[in-house]
Amino acid sequence: MNEQALSVREAIIGRRSVKNFNGQPVDLENINSILEDARWAPTHGLRNPWRFIVAANKEYIKFQDVLKEYGVPKWKELSEEELEKQMKKFRTPGAVVFVVVQEDARQKERLEDYAAASALIQNAMLLAWDQGIGTCWKTPPFIDNPKFREELGVKPGERIMSMLQFGYYDDIPKGRVRTPLEDVVTYYGIEENGEEK
Ligand SMILES: Cc1cc2nc3c(=O)[nH]c(=O)nc-3n(C[C@H](O)[C@H](O)[C@H](O)COP(=O)(O)O)c2cc1C
Repeated sequence: MNEQALSVREAIIGRRSVKNFNGQPVDLENINSILEDARWAPTHGLRNPWRFIVAANKEYIKFQDVLKEYGVPKWKELSEEELEKQMKKFRTPGAVVFVVVQEDARQKERLEDYAAASALIQNAMLLAWDQGIGTCWKTPPFIDNPKFREELGVKPGERIMSMLQFGYYDDIPKGRVRTPLEDVVTYYGIEENGEEK
């Protein structure tokens, strides 16, 4: 187990989605240890509805050609310079993990499984942050492209929930404000003026 640097609270409130990575590769070992721990997310009925497709090290470099094909519209028509500009978002992360969930035919179970996989993804992002590795949960439209799914070996009845990018960063992005708690909470049995009903 890795040495823990941050408290749970520090990790939760300090984590940022990193959208500008610095190009340093993320070792497969780090990705594996993060996924190993992240699997402790709650999962109703212990269905463990997830699986992962990982591209790290040399394989991430190779995979960038696939990202070019599906993630850069009309890439063949672009100048080399323009293409490299568009590819920056794929070249600078150090690894990527596709989180895939099995889509249960029953709606309740399907939603529970998405929820469990979301908890796992947040776990992974927090564990990475604790190791000084940034992440961004991305859902670009091409994750639903049948040809892209086929390229990754995603089967009918499975859904890609996240293209989870991992990478090192030079600057910590600014925090994005959340809706204040008082705007989203009501207390059962208490009036807005604080008096009991
Ligand atoms: C389900 C989901 C999908 C997301 N998809 C994208 C995406 O496609 N592109 C992107 O830049 N950020 C994406 N994000 C990241 C959010 O933009 C980010 O969490 C939000 O801006 C708040 O920033 P923070 O995570 O640093 O607090 C996604 C987040 C979630 C939860």
